[in-house]
Amino acid sequence: MDTDDTAPATLSEMLRGYWITQIIYVVAKLGIADLLEGGPRMSDELAISTGTHAPSLYRLLRALAIIGVFEQDEKGSFSLTAISRCLVSNIPGSMRARAIANGEEWYRAWGDLLYSVKTGQKAFDYVFGMPFFQYLAQNTPASEIFNETMTGSSEQGAAAIIAAYDFSWAKTIVDVGGGHGALIASILNANPHAHGILFDVPQVTEGARAHLVAAGLAERCEVVGGDFFQAVPSGGDIYLLSWIIHDWDDERSVTILKNCYQAMASGARLLLIERVVPHDNEPSLSKLYDLHMLVLLGSRERTKPQYQALLDAAGFKLTTIIPIPQVSERSIIEGMRV
Ligand SMILES: C[S@@+](CC[C@H](N)C(=O)[O-])C[C@H]1O[C@@H](n2cnc3c(N)ncnc32)[C@H](O)[C@@H]1O
Repeated sequence: MDTDDTAPATLSEMLRGYWITQIIYVVAKLGIADLLEGGPRMSDELAISTGTHAPSLYRLLRALAIIGVFEQDEKGSFSLTAISRCLVSNIPGSMRARAIANGEEWYRAWGDLLYSVKTGQKAFDYVFGMPFFQYLAQNTPASEIFNETMTGSSEQGAAAIIAAYDFSWAKTIVDVGGGHGALIASILNANPHAHGILFDVPQVTEGARAHLVAAGLAERCEVVGGDFFQAVPSGGDIYLLSWIIHDWDDERSVTILKNCYQAMASGARLLLIERVVPHDNEPSLSKLYDLHMLVLLGSRERTKPQYQALLDAAGFKLTTIIPIPQVSERSIIEGMRV
């Protein structure tokens, strides 16, 4: 057995993980990073601006300063660091919404991880009494936070995806479950001859239009509301599914993929953007996100053979997997409609 004198301290740090999640959540929810954009401020002023209890807010900010989220100067005022700059709203790739989602519904669902491990069922449904996407459909604030979370992560990853894959040959690109359209907007802006179709459930596509207009794509990107378990828009050259298949079990995933297959012409390409779980004992973030999928959606991250099996079942030929390790370990899994 290995012995290591630092093990108790390491374990203590791991055990405190949920403290960090919650303290970052609280400053994100209060919008403190936005208030510090103009320069350092004293915690008393921040307490007035946020309607919080000044001594307690000071204690929170002081704790955040020791983990590098804010900086505290000798006069006691607080300023942004590189980490808290990521919590500023309305910057490309903002992580504020992600911090809020982590501290609210996701946090409560993770509180019942034990339930998921004992039963193999979704802790989210156990806690909230309904599936995740149904909950979003019924809770506008949670849905807005989720869509902003996805927009932030798409904005972070888009440039690397565009650099890794040649979209230039495609006349029409369909983004299936494309959320508010951050990824398709970046791809269309980098490929001015292409047209796009953004497809998602109607309550999400309603919010997507404004984003596409702001990106100057009102004319080049059609917005279609629908249900990918029924059908997806036809006639695309590329069908993009970014973080879609990992939301669903194998049976439902194959239904989505078959609906794409039906909509595609021979030679059209399917691009899944997902984390591919490496074999055996290789370290990978995908093994943690796999549990996130179990807890929230009863689904999973998959290995290459598992993706191969899904594509085979829907009639696609898996042509290549392009790793994009620099953006949260994503890969592009390309399938061809044969
Ligand atoms: C994990 S998000 C991914 C969003 C986006 N593709 C991205 O990478 O940022 C999953 C998306 O699937 C959409 N979705 C869920 N169920 C759907 C359905 N039945 N039909 C169409 N879209 C659906 C959600 O609204 C959400 O936008």
